[in-house]
Amino acid sequence: MTKRPDDICPRPERLPPQPTWPMAMPIYPSSVWSCDSTTQAEEILEGQETGYVYQRDRHPNADVFAEKCCELHHAAQAVVTSSGMAAMATAIVSQVSQGDHLVVSNQLYGRSLQLLTGECARLGITSDLVDTCDLTATAAAIRPETKLVIVETIANPLLRVADIAALAAVAHQQGAWLLVDNTFATPVICQPLELGADFVVESVSKMMNGHSDVMLGALLGHEANWQRVPLVTSTWGFSSSPFDCWLATRGLATLHLRAERACANALQVAEYLAGHSQVAGVEYPGLVDHVDHGLARRQFQNGYGAMVTFHLRGERTAADQFIEAARNIPFSPSLGEVSTSLSHPASTSHRGLSLSERERLGIRDATIRLSVGTESEEFVLNLLREALAPT
Ligand SMILES: Cc1ncc(COP(=O)(O)O)c(C=O)c1O
Repeated sequence: MTKRPDDICPRPERLPPQPTWPMAMPIYPSSVWSCDSTTQAEEILEGQETGYVYQRDRHPNADVFAEKCCELHHAAQAVVTSSGMAAMATAIVSQVSQGDHLVVSNQLYGRSLQLLTGECARLGITSDLVDTCDLTATAAAIRPETKLVIVETIANPLLRVADIAALAAVAHQQGAWLLVDNTFATPVICQPLELGADFVVESVSKMMNGHSDVMLGALLGHEANWQRVPLVTSTWGFSSSPFDCWLATRGLATLHLRAERACANALQVAEYLAGHSQVAGVEYPGLVDHVDHGLARRQFQNGYGAMVTFHLRGERTAADQFIEAARNIPFSPSLGEVSTSLSHPASTSHRGLSLSERERLGIRDATIRLSVGTESEEFVLNLLREALAPT
């Protein structure tokens, strides 16, 4: 029978046989796979056989990216999610139930705070905000029903460093687990699971990908805590898109180069700003006078991160004037990209906090957060020289 075009075109294709390997990872946008038999479908869906049936459950581009994340973090398990927030939500929904309690660092990313306090409270999960740099206060906040202690490796925007080994010991002593958001550090600088953490969240949208064109997250952990994670990821719809995983895998190929260059630049930037008369103070864990410098030196490899926060002398107008003068530094409230950018915490990430809450955290109206990029050191320093009056 001669096939009509409308019988040819809609039919699924088979991949042509290939005796060689493509050097670039193919993208598998397929939302569904065809199975040879009911037994095969059942076995794959039950996880008894490897393979794919439905994209929301698993797909090759997520598996490739997750495998690389596992290697970078020396993790037994990883799942890729549609955003960093989805990774955090996967951790909560898979590990915590109504009636449980969370101990939450008071310096977390704003949306994480909203999720872990506001949204979780709505679902019957209580929480206490604590200064997790204070180990005694953290230990005192843990209750019998506390399931997770949640911190960031390097917290935004004052770049305080979490003592991961000590926090893991404090949590474990009282039967809780430690979850570390490692977004500001990336696995190039820190691998929290190696230091005793139980879960790691990465916002892949930031430096892991590094090119401002992906929204993805990753949750990593040990075999023993992982049982509910695949079910939660698929059932709550936290899964990732193949195209974003493909782009992020490409971004990851240069993660070490980007991170090392950006960290080296950031140290130079911090030192330059520390000596500038218009600058009242610099927060960078690589500076010897940063409150957590000793801890950062022990805990980190390859640098101290790409983020530098500084306080201009003056009030909000000083920040406005700097942003106006820094025409060649994009004011974009994200981070970890190849291009140097800046943010103003008081009007963006921390605008939801009252003035007194911001002051308690050390965030001023004239505080600027730089995300230092991979341009040459001279180029980055010139961006700042253009924006600040000569000393
Ligand atoms: C430290 C940190 N964690 C998590 C997130 C959330 O990641 P995403 O934007 O990929 O959901 C962000 C976003 O800015 C962040 O800065």
